[in-house]
Amino acid sequence: MSAARRGAIPRGSPRSARRAGGVADVAAGESCTVLVLAAGRSTRMKSEKSKLLHLLRGKPILARTLVNAGEVGRVYCVVGDGADEMRAIAEEHGAQVIVQEPPLGTGHAVLCAEQSLRGRSGTLLILNGDVPLAGPEILSSLVAFHVARRCDLTVLSTRPPDPGRYGRIVRRGSDLEAIVEYLDASARVRAVGEINAGIYCARIPAVFPYLHKLTNKNEKREYYLTDLVAVLRRARRKVACMFMPAWRELLGINDRTDLDEAEAILNRGKIRALQREGVSVRSSCNTFIGDDVSIAPDTTVHPFSIIDGKTRIGRHCVIMPFTRVVDSTLGDRVTVLGSSLIVDSVIEGGSTVGPFCHLRGRTRILRDSKVGNFVEMKKTAFGPASKAMHLTYLGDATVGEAVNVGAGTITCNYDGVSKNPTHVERGVFIGSGTELVAPVRVGEGAYVAAGSTITEDVPAGSLGIARARQITKEGWAARRKGKS
Ligand code: UD1
Ligand code: CA
Repeated sequence: MSAARRGAIPRGSPRSARRAGGVADVAAGESCTVLVLAAGRSTRMKSEKSKLLHLLRGKPILARTLVNAGEVGRVYCVVGDGADEMRAIAEEHGAQVIVQEPPLGTGHAVLCAEQSLRGRSGTLLILNGDVPLAGPEILSSLVAFHVARRCDLTVLSTRPPDPGRYGRIVRRGSDLEAIVEYLDASARVRAVGEINAGIYCARIPAVFPYLHKLTNKNEKREYYLTDLVAVLRRARRKVACMFMPAWRELLGINDRTDLDEAEAILNRGKIRALQREGVSVRSSCNTFIGDDVSIAPDTTVHPFSIIDGKTRIGRHCVIMPFTRVVDSTLGDRVTVLGSSLIVDSVIEGGSTVGPFCHLRGRTRILRDSKVGNFVEMKKTAFGPASKAMHLTYLGDATVGEAVNVGAGTITCNYDGVSKNPTHVERGVFIGSGTELVAPVRVGEGAYVAAGSTITEDVPAGSLGIARARQITKEGWAARRKGKS
C-alpha cells in the first residue's frame, strides 16, 4: 500500500505538488480522506446504467476518478443502493463503499458519509464522480491551498469558454459568497463565467453539523452540497475559492457530448506527449492512441489509425491509414500498410505488413519478413525474412526462415474437433493455391507445386505435387461449337 493510500498528503502527492514547496509543505502531516460522490441518477446520459459506468478511453469513468482520488488519500465512495457494478469497481480500487438511497442530492450524499467518517479528522476532499480528468496534481494543489488557509470549506472553480449548466460562483469583491445552481440562477448570475468544478475540501468533523442545515428549497428539490457555502458564511466559518485556469481537466461528464469531449481531451493529451517525445502523428483529431501505448521517436502515425491496449512500437516505423493495432509489439523499422488489423501479435524489426492484413492470436512475424494483401495469420510464427504476399491464411503454423508462401495458400488447421499444427521449414517454396492439411510438415528446402492439396509430409529437398493430372483435349472447342 502506498503512502498516498494510507492518507498522508505530502508523501503521496505527485512530484509537482511537492516541488511547489511552501504551499504543499503546509499540508505535511495532515491526513486526507477522499469522498467520491457516485450515487446520482444519470438522467442526461439517457442510459439504462449510471453514466459513471460508461467507458472513457476503455475504462469506466468511476474507475478513472477513483484512481485520481487514491493518489491523495484514503477513499470512500458513495453509491446507490443495488449498484453492484459500481460497488465492485469501488472495492477493486480499495475504496470503502457508502450507500445513499434514495439519492436526494450532493449535500445529502456527503451526509450519508457522516457515520463512516466518525472519528476521522483533517481534510475531506469531496470529489464528484463525474470529473475524471482532474488528476492528482490538481487535487493535491487544492488540498494544499485549503490547508494553508485553514479553511472550513474550499471550492475549486474555473472558467470554461461555455459555462453551460454548471453552478455559478458568486463573489462579493474577491470573497466567495455563494454557489448558485444554473436552474436556480437569475439571468445576471447565469452571465457569470466562473463555475464550480465539483471538487471541494472540507474540514472534518466540523462541516457535518452545517450539512444538516441544508434545505431542498430549489428547482430540483435536492439537498445541494453547493448551498453549504452560504450556510457556512452565515455561521461566519471560513470559506474560500481556488481558481484554476485548467478548465479542460475540470470537465464534468453529464451527457454523451461531454463524454466525447473528454475522449478528445485525453486523446489529444496523449498525442501531444508522444509528439514531444519525437513521434510524428499527422492528425491528432483523426488518430486514437490509448493511454498505455508507447511509441519510440521517428515513428510516423498516419490519420485514421487506432493504436490501443498495451501496444509498444519501436523507432522509424510507419503506420499507414485505417490501421488498428491492439496489445501488440512492433520492433524498429516496421511498416504497416493501410487498413490492417493487428491484435495480440509481435512484428519484429524491418518487416512490412499490409495493406489489408490481419494478424491475431499471438502471431509473431520475425525480422525482415513481408506479409501482404489479404493475408490472415493466427497463432503463427513466420520468418525471419519470409514472404506471404497475397490472399493467404496461416493458422497454428510455424514457418521458418526465407520461406516463400505463394498466393492463395491455406493451412487447413481445423478438422472440426481440434486445431492441428503446420510446420514449414527454412527455405521452402510453397506454390500458389496450396492447401496444407494439418498436421503436416514441409521439410527444409522443399518445393510444393502450385495447386496442391498436401495431406502428407513433404521431406526436405523434395518436390510435393498433389493435384489431378491435366488432360488436354485438342480441338475440343471447335467440335463443341459445331454441335450447337
Ligand atoms: C454539480 C454541482 C455544480 C457543479 C457541477 C460540476 C451540485 C448541486 N451542483 O452539478 O455546482 O458546477 O457539479 O461538475 O452539487 N450524486 C450523488 N448523489 C446525489 C446526487 C449526485 O452521489 O444524490 C453524485 C453524482 O453521481 C455525480 C456527482 O454527485 O457524480 C455530481 O452530481 P450531478 O448531478 O452530476 O451534479 P451537477 O448537476 O453536474
Ligand atoms: Ca455533473
